[in-house]
Amino acid sequence: MSALLSAPLQIGDVIADCSLPDGSRLSQLRGRPVILAFAPEAWNPAHTYQSELFAQILKDFDEGATFIEACTDDWHNFDTESDLAARFGVSGKRALFLIDEVGILRWKIEVGSNEIISLGEVITALETLKAKPQNAGGISRRAFLSASLAAAAVLSLPLSSAQADPQMLKPAVAREQTAPPAPYETAGTIPVTLRVNGQPRKLQLEPRVALLDALREYLHLMGTKKGCDHGQCGACTVHVNGERQLSCLTLAVMNQGKEITTIEGLASGENLHPVQAAFIKNDAFQCGYCTPGQIMSAVALIKEGRARTDAEIREAMSGNLCRCAAYPNIIAAIKEVQGGVRAV
Ligand code: FES
Ligand code: FES
Repeated sequence: MSALLSAPLQIGDVIADCSLPDGSRLSQLRGRPVILAFAPEAWNPAHTYQSELFAQILKDFDEGATFIEACTDDWHNFDTESDLAARFGVSGKRALFLIDEVGILRWKIEVGSNEIISLGEVITALETLKAKPQNAGGISRRAFLSASLAAAAVLSLPLSSAQADPQMLKPAVAREQTAPPAPYETAGTIPVTLRVNGQPRKLQLEPRVALLDALREYLHLMGTKKGCDHGQCGACTVHVNGERQLSCLTLAVMNQGKEITTIEGLASGENLHPVQAAFIKNDAFQCGYCTPGQIMSAVALIKEGRARTDAEIREAMSGNLCRCAAYPNIIAAIKEVQGGVRAV
């Protein structure tokens, strides 16, 4: 087992070589940035869905940063991962470290096991790095942003929605293109064009604005709901290029050139989408807050064609939580559409 660090790591410290969870050594990754994320392990119904999201975000890398996850739970005391957590001084905590291509710590954040490293917190921290040269730390801002966005998703996985403190996340602010005038337009906004429900929409946004906030706060498409803002509840589900996407965990700028569909874009004029109609027919909601996300997920699930049994549907919909527990009716609605309408 490696020796523990004698003092907390500081920005600018050279990180000594160490074993990684996959059995490789940190020194073998020199020449490319490494993002090291620590989180306690726990079961969460949204885990599968968010892992898929995490993989999807990582695909956006334009420079090969290496992302490494490590568990910090007590029962991993004697394996490489907990040893690594101890070396970094984050046993039992959530933490994120960015190590540049020559092994220097460029940025870090750590919180207790019951606290949240929120997406907004990470992105705000990243904004402060924007002033550095484009390739500071050997990683482009875009790659770093993508990786840390993914990391934020991973770091929030084990929390239950009951633990999430909405006050910890301050909604990112979308800036309108035409009003208000300066100084808002000069506060680091950039032109962003999104294609939403078949229409091009031009916005002027800060790069840190999540797709969810762009949809709700600027485009006023309020059907997409903000539940947890942490990728845990599924209320913000939209379709991006036909696939499910948690809009709170992706930046608006990352979705330029993609087809975005919200709940407002599902119906054809006065004709509801078959899944919308089935939800109504089967009373698949009570308060309705989770319903847009449930429906967007259900439509994608049916298109995917891989969930046929109740158990498979439950698993495939496990990223969409319903506080009113309308689950049996939701499953009934999905099965009704699966059985009667294949062309959804
Ligand atoms: Fe809860 Fe996005 S997953 S708001
Ligand atoms: Fe109320 Fe799902 S219907 S949260």
